[in-house]
Amino acid sequence: MTTKPETAIILGTGLGQLATEITDSYEFSYSDIPNFPVSTVEGHSGKLIFGKLGGKDIMAMQGRFHYYEGYSMKDVTFPIRVMYELGIKTLFVSNASGGMNPEFKIGDLMIITDHINFFPEHPLRGKNFPTGPRFPDMHETYDHALIKEADQIAEEKGIRVMHGVYVGVQGPTFETPAEYKMYHRLGGDAVGMSTVPEVIVAHHCGIRTFGISIITDLGLEDTPVEVSHEEVQVAANNAQPLMTEIMREMIRRA
Ligand code: HPA
Repeated sequence: MTTKPETAIILGTGLGQLATEITDSYEFSYSDIPNFPVSTVEGHSGKLIFGKLGGKDIMAMQGRFHYYEGYSMKDVTFPIRVMYELGIKTLFVSNASGGMNPEFKIGDLMIITDHINFFPEHPLRGKNFPTGPRFPDMHETYDHALIKEADQIAEEKGIRVMHGVYVGVQGPTFETPAEYKMYHRLGGDAVGMSTVPEVIVAHHCGIRTFGISIITDLGLEDTPVEVSHEEVQVAANNAQPLMTEIMREMIRRA
């Protein structure tokens, strides 16, 4: 069987279910791919899945690499380089995040309209790859047409979606109340520990990107609420069917 996917999807938190819907699939364990890092976090398994979803050839990454695990930025973004080499044109990503916008509720889906990069190391630091310019423009890092399409799909299906700016931080601590407050005042609507490095590299490679974040906990000013990894996973699992519905339809229309 041959496959020529132009669509890739990072099955982050809340999208695991989508893996079970991929047909005609064949899988490569990360540990069998030269130079591929191996994922270690609870709840993340590591393999590349090739197959069909919504009638499309797709490539899915099950299990991603987080900077807080100790990987270098080159490791974290290596799979995006592989996607580029394989001819991927559009990337879908998901993640979990802490909501700072007072309009948000736990379990909300936030379409990522932009990001603020707070990682301590830039993924494009070092010799420039010829996939893009040395100093990339970042005005439309999250593709506007894809955002519009997601809004339409959400409206058709009666799914509540919020829009917002995702602040990418290294973790692994969740934020202190003062940090949530700061990130909110700086223009962030949600904060999380992934996505930004991969999206920057995808953008540099000319790959169109669309991302949704599940608001799994809230860091609202002056109402501190404790958060745990388990709570994040429960909230993400609950929101999973709606996230999956939107992403499945986005891929079908891609
Ligand atoms: N902060 C950072 N990362 C997260 C959070 C949070 O509140 N929730 C889920 N991932």
